[in-house]
Amino acid sequence: MTNTNKHIPVMLNQVLENLAPEAGKTYIDCTFGNGGYTRAILEQTNCSCISIDQDPSVKAKADELTKEFGSRFTFIQGKFGDLEKLVSNDKNIDGIVFDIGVSSMQLDEADRGFSFNKTAPLDMRMSKSGISAKDLVNELEETELANIIYKYGEEKKSRFVARAIVEARQEKEIETTTELAEIVANAIYGKAGKTHPATKTFQALRIEVNKELEQLENGLKAATNLLDKDGKLVVVTFHSLEDRIVKNFMKENSETKGSGTSRYLPVAEDKVLDNAFSKISKAIKPSKEEILSNKRARSAKLRVAIKN
Ligand SMILES: C[S@@+](CC[C@H](N)C(=O)[O-])C[C@H]1O[C@@H](n2cnc3c(N)ncnc32)[C@H](O)[C@@H]1O
Repeated sequence: MTNTNKHIPVMLNQVLENLAPEAGKTYIDCTFGNGGYTRAILEQTNCSCISIDQDPSVKAKADELTKEFGSRFTFIQGKFGDLEKLVSNDKNIDGIVFDIGVSSMQLDEADRGFSFNKTAPLDMRMSKSGISAKDLVNELEETELANIIYKYGEEKKSRFVARAIVEARQEKEIETTTELAEIVANAIYGKAGKTHPATKTFQALRIEVNKELEQLENGLKAATNLLDKDGKLVVVTFHSLEDRIVKNFMKENSETKGSGTSRYLPVAEDKVLDNAFSKISKAIKPSKEEILSNKRARSAKLRVAIKN
């Protein structure tokens, strides 16, 4: 099924301001999506942009941009965790941007199984390949399921949810988004509130299916290695698990570590190279106007680091 819904780029002005594209230079957009950032980068000046996405269904949009921008634009289908394999390191890269998470097209296209609002196969794979959410809920052991739902969904009742999933699948394989949402809602007995009781469980499964946090960690390291001196790393995140990874990564690899970092602490595993960044920003948030016009922006945070 094709999806015509548009993804509105989040914090686009701040992304452009911080990336500050210059003519003749090359940028990487690690999360092409609907091409919102890529288009804006290419329209800003006569620069080049290499754009990556793991979702094969963005290819049609990429083809449109190829027609429009010719050799200034290159699309690569792949995972940004493999960035150093996808982009050769003899290129001079002056800025890299990440817009983490799912796109509106992925969320709104019922068949992709990201949303509990529409009955669809329990899928959630951004790359349309590999292990699906259906595989996880029907095959993982109860404790493993509970741990994932707790860790990636920050769901306090994760053990009740995992128990209910295991009991339900003994009767019959869990196949659809709405079946799972109902099992979770019944397990939690939550008060009807603003958010659906299955929100946290769905977030957790999506993160596990797509290995989102590992991808982010690997993507940040690879991007830092690829950037030229004074190159900009610009990252937009949408929840605290992601933002914590970006914040710690930038801090651990920067010259201006905060006073919280003790010289007696062991060297962090995600350290790329000593003082990889000369400067890092605090979290930048969207304007009230943007949040009012695009609900998706409400939890966004943007962080910037400048390569040393
Ligand atoms: C929030 S959307 C990006 C929207 C884009 N900035 C725009 O303005 O249209 C995120 C995109 O990143 C892709 N994505 C997420 N994780 C990825 C990964 N590890 N590797 C490659 N692409 C990824 C998703 O498939 C999705 O299309």
